[in-house]
Amino acid sequence: MCCFGLILLISLASTLNSVCAYEPNWKSLDTRPLPTWYDEAKFGIFCHWGVFSVPAFKADWFWYFWKGPTPDPDILKFMEKNYKPGFSYGDFAPLFTAELFNPTTFAKIVKSSGAKYYVPTSKHCEGFTNWPSAYSWNWNAVDVGPHRDLIGELREAILGIGGVHFGFYFSQYEWFNRLYWTDKAANFSSQTYVNEVSYPQMVELVNNYKPDILWSDGDWEAADTYWNSERFLAWLFTDSPVAKNVVVNDRWGAGLTGKHGSFYSFSDHFDPGHIIPHKWENCMMLDKNNWMTSRTMTAADVHTLNELITQLARTISCNGNLLLNAGATHDGRIIPIFEERLSEVGAWLAVNGEAVYKTKPWIHQNDSNVWYTSKLRSTHNKNPYRVYNLQNEQNTIVYAFVLDWPKNGKLILPSIQVTSRTRAQMLGCKGALSVVSSQDGAVIDISQIGFTQLPSLTAWVIKLEYLATEVFDPVNDMIEKGWLTTDGFPLRYSTEHHRRSRSAN
Ligand SMILES: *[C@@H]1O[C@H](CO)[C@@H](O)[C@H](O)[C@H]1NC(C)=O
Ligand SMILES: *[C@@H]1O[C@H](CO)[C@@H](O)[C@H](O)[C@H]1NC(C)=O
Repeated sequence: MCCFGLILLISLASTLNSVCAYEPNWKSLDTRPLPTWYDEAKFGIFCHWGVFSVPAFKADWFWYFWKGPTPDPDILKFMEKNYKPGFSYGDFAPLFTAELFNPTTFAKIVKSSGAKYYVPTSKHCEGFTNWPSAYSWNWNAVDVGPHRDLIGELREAILGIGGVHFGFYFSQYEWFNRLYWTDKAANFSSQTYVNEVSYPQMVELVNNYKPDILWSDGDWEAADTYWNSERFLAWLFTDSPVAKNVVVNDRWGAGLTGKHGSFYSFSDHFDPGHIIPHKWENCMMLDKNNWMTSRTMTAADVHTLNELITQLARTISCNGNLLLNAGATHDGRIIPIFEERLSEVGAWLAVNGEAVYKTKPWIHQNDSNVWYTSKLRSTHNKNPYRVYNLQNEQNTIVYAFVLDWPKNGKLILPSIQVTSRTRAQMLGCKGALSVVSSQDGAVIDISQIGFTQLPSLTAWVIKLEYLATEVFDPVNDMIEKGWLTTDGFPLRYSTEHHRRSRSAN
C-alpha cells in the first residue's frame, strides 16, 4: 500500500477530497495519517454518564464491584442499608431521570473550558446505551430512564456551539451480557455477542451520529480477531461517513495498547514525562478518585487549576493530548465545582492558548518542572505530521510553561540557548523580560513583573524568540537512553498509572 505517500501529496496540495482504501489488517490501517485537527486540538473533555450515576457511589464500576467475582464490602453494605432486598442493578435505570438535562448548558460548559473535543460515554461496560440502540432492547436511555436520546441531543448542542469536535466512548464488552458470557465460556471461539451486539452498535453509532472520535474500551479480555477490529476499522477509515476526520484510540483487543490506532491511550492517566513519537492521549479525571460524578466527592478531591495546567503542559510537550473527565449526575447536571474548574482552565487558555493549540513539541521537553512547546513562524515545506519542531533561530518560537514561581523570581533554564537577538515575554503581559546566559543556562527574571500585572496566580507561559539554532533529536535521545524502543514504544511507565479494570479505585 502506498497510502501514506499518496495522502501526503494530496494534502500538501490541499485538495484532500478522497480517502484511501484501507484493508482489514493492521499493516494497512497503520498507514493512515492522523487527521490534523486532533493534534491541533490538544485538549478535550471526557464525560462518564450512565446508570452508575444513580447510586453515584464508589465507582462507575459499581455493578461489577457489587455482582462481579470479588464484591466490594462497602458496596454490599451500601445496598443492604439503603435498598430493599431484591433490588437489582436494573432497578436503578428508571431512576436515571436526567430531568434537569439541558444539552446547551453542557455545550456551554465544554466551550468555556477551552476544550476542542467532547467525548461522552455512549455505552459503558454496564451495557446501557445512551442512544436508542436497536441492539439494546429495553436497556437504553429512550426505553427507560431519561426517555431521551442523550447522545443525539449532546451531539447537536456541541456541534451547534462551534469549534468543538464531537465523538464518544464505547465499551466493547458488557460485564453481564449473557451472549458475551457464552462466547467467553467458549474461549471466544464463537462471536455471537460481537455479531449481534457490539459490532452492529458501532456501525449504528457511526452512521447515525457521525463521530470525529471513537474511543474504544473494554476490549482487554479478547483478541482483536474476536472483536473484528480490523474489519471494523477498515470500514470506518474507508467507507464510513466519517472516513476522513475520525480518530480512534488503541483499545481494540488484548495486548494491543500502544500498538495501533490514531492515538495511543495506553493505560488511564498515562503521563510518561518524555516524548513519544506516535500521537498519544492522557485521559484523566477531574475528581482524583472517580470517573463518574461521585456523591461522596469533596472539594479536596478535585484537581486544582495548577495541577490541571501542569498535566496539560507535561502532556502536550511530549506529543500527547489531554482528555479531562467531568462526569454528569443522574438528573442531568454538571456540578458547580466541575463547571467552575473547567471555566478556570478556559480563562487560563484564553490568555495562554497560543502556547497550546496548534503547537508541536520542541527539541527539549522540559527543564525540571518547566515544560516546552513550540511553533514555527513559517511552516512552508514542513511535513504536517512532524513529531516536533526543529530549533532554528529565525523560525522557531518556544513556549516555556512555568508551573511554580521560581526562587527570587529568577527562572533558570538549562535548555535555553540565548543569542544577542533573543526576546522573552510573558503571555498576557506587555513588555520584554531580560534574558541572560549563565553557567547554569538562561536566566529570566520574572520578578520584574508587578503582582497586579500577572495574568495568572498559578501558572505562566514565557514566549521565547530567536534562540540559538541547535541540532538535537529528542526521539533518538530517548531511544539511546533506553526509554523508547527503536520503533518508539515507551519502556518506562510512571507508577501513577492504573487501569480501571484492575482496581476498585
Ligand atoms: C483459548 O484460546 C487461546 C488463544 O486461541 C489459547 O491459547 C488457549 O489455549 C485456549 N484455552 C483453552 C482453555 O482452550
Ligand atoms: C523532565 O521531566 C522528567 C519527568 O518528570 C524528569 O525525569 C527529567 O529529569 C526532566 N528533565 C530535565 C532535563 O529536567
